[in-house]
Amino acid sequence: MTNLVSHTPIWSVLQQRAATTSSIKDLFKADPQRFEHFSASACGMLLDYSKQRLDATTLSTLLTLARQQKVEQRRAAMFAGEAINHTENRAVLHTVLRLPRDDAFQYQGENIAANVHQVLQQIRTFSDAVRSGRWLGNTGKAIRTIVNIGIGGSDLGPQMVCIALAPWAQKNLQLHFVSNVDGRHLTDALENADPETTLFVVASKTFSTMETLTNAKTARAWMLHAGCPAAQIRQHFVALSTNVEAATGFGIAPENVFPFWNWAGGRYSVWSAIGLSIALYVGADRFEEMLAGAHAMDVHFQQAPLEKNLPVLMALLGVWNINFLGLQALSIAPYHQRLSRLPAYLQQLEMESNGKSVTCDGLRVDYATAPILFGEAGTNGQHAYFQLLHQGANIVPTDFIAVADDDAGLPEHNQALLANCLAQSKAMAHGKNLEQVRAELPEVAESLLPHRVFEGNRPSSTLLLDVLSPTSLGALIALYEHKVFVQSVIWDINAFDQWGVELGKSLAQQLISLQPEAVREEYDSSTKGLLRALKKAQ
Ligand code: F6P
Repeated sequence: MTNLVSHTPIWSVLQQRAATTSSIKDLFKADPQRFEHFSASACGMLLDYSKQRLDATTLSTLLTLARQQKVEQRRAAMFAGEAINHTENRAVLHTVLRLPRDDAFQYQGENIAANVHQVLQQIRTFSDAVRSGRWLGNTGKAIRTIVNIGIGGSDLGPQMVCIALAPWAQKNLQLHFVSNVDGRHLTDALENADPETTLFVVASKTFSTMETLTNAKTARAWMLHAGCPAAQIRQHFVALSTNVEAATGFGIAPENVFPFWNWAGGRYSVWSAIGLSIALYVGADRFEEMLAGAHAMDVHFQQAPLEKNLPVLMALLGVWNINFLGLQALSIAPYHQRLSRLPAYLQQLEMESNGKSVTCDGLRVDYATAPILFGEAGTNGQHAYFQLLHQGANIVPTDFIAVADDDAGLPEHNQALLANCLAQSKAMAHGKNLEQVRAELPEVAESLLPHRVFEGNRPSSTLLLDVLSPTSLGALIALYEHKVFVQSVIWDINAFDQWGVELGKSLAQQLISLQPEAVREEYDSSTKGLLRALKKAQ
């Protein structure tokens, strides 16, 4: 007897439904009101999932699956601060980071919401000082360049948000994100930077990540080399970390450490002190608006009936596509240039969270989990990988993300952008069959016609935001966070650990010298051969 969800009767029901599911085209024919029946709105955004390949009975069966897997109870457990990240014995409370100022949240005998707001005040005071020019470098000059040094969740979130909210940025501040241990990343960022006016924000939850510490040490050496006295380094370095001791051990002044807590996971930390670069760039008010937008989505996720609950619906659509239709990838196509880093952000959120193959009880799953996620801003993606989306042998569902507002003030561009977005999802859903192609191109040889056929029946959802603002961006990120959580509950996996990154880290430590003595007898011939070839080439 196994406890896997895939062995429950409802899983078989869904498998049977998948085997007989109608095409998207037929689903539209059968229900002229399909858009009204398969769309939902919340927090300033509309989710249109009418172009997914499912009918009302399948949707209600998926909702039953969600209830069977106790999504509502697990949601309550997460919001209540139970240690649902059981492999690390940690609560998962990133939602507390966006509670309104007057809310309280008791955890382990403390009002942690008050601690959160204390750090938010610290962020506000510091970011105001830097932005207004009151915070001075060691030679008395105001800060003009900010370099965020961090990786993974300590880079992708703030970077994605700063690009998205660029219209609110303070124009006289240059912002760089340095993540890669490849020294070129840091040297490129520092190429035009003036040490007298540069501030380094060292972002690392653990303050032990090799890439970040290596970059931070080199940055400090750059400052010292430029003549900054060691005692004045505090004017140029701040740290964002749960490990205050390690940050101060690195030489960062205790008052320059912005703390957060272990109950906020790395890829869920953009709401914490990790957001300092956002506040520096666009201001503390905008950062707090983003938190408010995320909180609105938290409330929706907790209160809306599952049938109208955006994160739950998106999670179920993903489960349907991945586990029952066998469509195991997900393309993210934001039709807004400022959301260009959203796919990269969601790669970590979805794949580091749910890229797991054992259940919470440690059983090997016999079903697929996280989607293989990739994407690119539209319309760029259309001229790159969309060929596969339209005609490839693998079918890849897509999340289109569009914004109605034309904040660029160029209506011709905005119309073209949005028209393309609608056209792509329509083409994917409905395609163009051989008869249509033949009728359109009577002069083309019969053997060439199949090349121009679009099978269609390729599922997509469209998320339509009224505007791209700090508030709507916060809600959008929180929507995906909760979607990922709901999927983890259905798949019975822990979305909040990431043991899969450990093996590579420790092997890199063994190999760090790249010298012959790094070679161990047990290494395979490929690793040994590559080490030898590297030595020779160097
Ligand atoms: O890749 C593993 C990971 O731990 C991510 O989860 C995290 O976002 C990233 O490394 C950076 O970690 P830290 O913020 O502790 O430097």
